[in-house]
Amino acid sequence: MSAGADGGTSRRVLVLNGPNLGRLGSREPDVYGTTSYAGLVKACAELGAELGFDVEVRETNDEGELISWLHEAADGRLPVVLNPGAFTHYSYGMRDAAAQRTAPLIEVHLSNPHAREEFRHLSVVAAVATGTVAGFGIGSYRLALRALADELGG
Ligand code: DQA
Repeated sequence: MSAGADGGTSRRVLVLNGPNLGRLGSREPDVYGTTSYAGLVKACAELGAELGFDVEVRETNDEGELISWLHEAADGRLPVVLNPGAFTHYSYGMRDAAAQRTAPLIEVHLSNPHAREEFRHLSVVAAVATGTVAGFGIGSYRLALRALADELGG
């Protein structure tokens, strides 16, 4: 599943973020931490480089755009780290796009949704993800990148 179009493993990784995640740092810092979105991008790029990945971090408030990015990842056999934000809990369109994955896809959350309001306890994407990392702030993304490195080898 991790083979690239040329038969090799893709070292390109998409880190995709859903609604409100571009507001990291100012958004409910007690829940999501004080690191800004720019800080998240930097942390992912730095660890990605250490792991030999070419990491591209994106964010959108638009469900259709996120779905299109998941199609792009499926077509390009690109591994994905996905924080769907609130789409996690109800977007079957996004879940169906994630289900088309052709490479590992790790679901991440900054907070631990299971320790929060009941509506956050359901993830519609979890069953089609390779695995989920939640509750470690931006450390969740670091752990997900390391998990991808293990999955992909090299
Ligand atoms: C989140 C958790 C979701 O419940 C919430 O809607 C978010 C962020 C997280 O990273 O903890 O937007 O995905």
